[in-house]
Amino acid sequence: MRFDLKVNGTPREVDVPADMPVLWILRDILGLTGTKYGCGVAQCGACTVHLDGQPVRACLLTVSAAAGRDILTIEAIEHTQAGAKVQQAWLDEEVIQCGYCQSGQIMAATALLQQNPHPTDAEIDEAMAGNICRCGTYVRIRKAIHKAASDDV
Ligand code: FES
Ligand code: FES
Repeated sequence: MRFDLKVNGTPREVDVPADMPVLWILRDILGLTGTKYGCGVAQCGACTVHLDGQPVRACLLTVSAAAGRDILTIEAIEHTQAGAKVQQAWLDEEVIQCGYCQSGQIMAATALLQQNPHPTDAEIDEAMAGNICRCGTYVRIRKAIHKAASDDV
């Protein structure tokens, strides 16, 4: 079936089964490989993208559910004010270890700051709880979110 998607502001038409997850489309059809496959069952957060501004798991988001809505991926997050601050804070605090989970972490952190510009530790922990990091970078993630929240860039 044909579906009209809007990915990072660009209209994209795909011809795929209606139940294909958006993660497959991003990575295998559109070549946007910044969004990662971790678990495939909405348990790790590695595949987090924004759908109409909300963080969602692309591994379970079907193309039919995403059609006609705004999909934003890590490749374009720098073009949002919060995303630019988050990415700079990630660099400043040297958050990343292996990096595999980090595009999902940045997408979740950006969504948090867009909804809550000055989150507490508890609010950060709650918002980020679904994003797993095997390298245990949680302390630096929290610090970087506070830094991005305090940045007037
Ligand atoms: S790959 Fe989607 S949540 Fe793990
Ligand atoms: S930085 Fe390695 S899994 Fe998070």
